[in-house]
Amino acid sequence: MTAIRPLVAGNWKMNGTSSALGELVALRDRLEKAPLPEVEVMVCPPATLLSRAASVLAETAIALGAQDCHPLPCGAHTGDISAEMLADAGATAVIVGHSERRIDHGETSETVNAKARAAYRAGLTAIVCIGETEEQHRDGETVDVLTSQIQGSVPEDAQGSNTVLAYEPVWAIGSGLTPTPEDVARLHGVIRETLGQVLGPDQGGATRILYGGSVKPSNAAELMSIPNVNGALVGGASLKASDFCEILAVYRSDSAT
Ligand code: 13P
Repeated sequence: MTAIRPLVAGNWKMNGTSSALGELVALRDRLEKAPLPEVEVMVCPPATLLSRAASVLAETAIALGAQDCHPLPCGAHTGDISAEMLADAGATAVIVGHSERRIDHGETSETVNAKARAAYRAGLTAIVCIGETEEQHRDGETVDVLTSQIQGSVPEDAQGSNTVLAYEPVWAIGSGLTPTPEDVARLHGVIRETLGQVLGPDQGGATRILYGGSVKPSNAAELMSIPNVNGALVGGASLKASDFCEILAVYRSDSAT
């Protein structure tokens, strides 16, 4: 298997006003002093901060992502933002199908698929999220849910270069709970296999699979060492540059912080 460069992306969700840009400056300065070539680092602030975040991160190795996009490039869709607009604001990636969008806004895998295709149209990387609810987890439906979400949400022409898959068990998000390392290994293996079936072995093997859900400095090393875990999608612990840097330090080859 070819080596995959891991990605750690911070999803700020609906958090952050102008003052939060200070955390981005702190992150930038820390990584400028101690670069981390082993890992791609991305921050996904709310849309209102994208342009200013792009200025802070200009000419750095830190990538900028958005949190959602509309499937269409423009039109009468009050309050929505197209992938083209996100690219224009400086984003190079967009999260699609986060469970909070699927649950709060009733997004189906079909919608998520259309949003991923919108991302490609605008030249953005799509970070496609999947994950089972607590009830589905309890009822033993996890593998079926993940398989069908991948089949429905990931466009058939997706490639490892423009697509990232993020597995986030809904019950692990913001709860402090995480699946056991054995479960993460097993489920990321299932995801890898399913991606291979949908995209073919080359692109399926080249697509990064992130784990998300209560990733924090204390558990990042263990989670990131699991086979087929090619990085993390971090929520709460990405809001403070110091916490986020501690997570990123897992990828420091000399293990120094
Ligand atoms: P937490 O890291 O806060 O659990 O959130 C995970 C998440 O939903 C990232 O997209």
